[in-house]
Amino acid sequence: MPAWQAASPKARDAKFFDQRVAPILERRCLGCHNEELKNGNISFLDRESLLHGGTRGPAIVPGNPAKSLLLAALRHEGELQMPPGPPLPAKEISILTTWVKRGAIWGERLHK
Ligand code: HEC
Repeated sequence: MPAWQAASPKARDAKFFDQRVAPILERRCLGCHNEELKNGNISFLDRESLLHGGTRGPAIVPGNPAKSLLLAALRHEGELQMPPGPPLPAKEISILTTWVKRGAIWGERLHK
């Protein structure tokens, strides 16, 4: 069993972020959404920035994937499509969706 399934719910969610979510953000998004280069006026280095959002408003609504702009962008549903170019593999979109559904708990791996 992966370590994130074994611990208390809160520790489990933080581990899920560090082991599954953060690597996707690092590999796929941080190059354009960091403290120096805030494309769309949004950095992905802390939870507050995602809650507050960029030019278009909040990027995620914890517990509510359907209202989360970031996920709509990954699914190429509207005008905003992220990352630019081909969509992420379905598996990665599913991990990010699960993360938002579970409350978008942050871990320790990403910080300003
Ligand atoms: C190659 C650079 C690049 C990468 C990589 C990238 N983005 Fe973006 N992102 C942009 C640009 C440029 C904008 C502004 C687009 C606009 O305003 O039309 C943007 C805007 C956004 C916005 C909207 C911000 C707002 O409020 O207007 C979200 C959400 C977003 N990106 C999510 C992501 C996610 C999630 C990833 C990784 C899966 C990602 N982006 C990867 C360049 C990038």
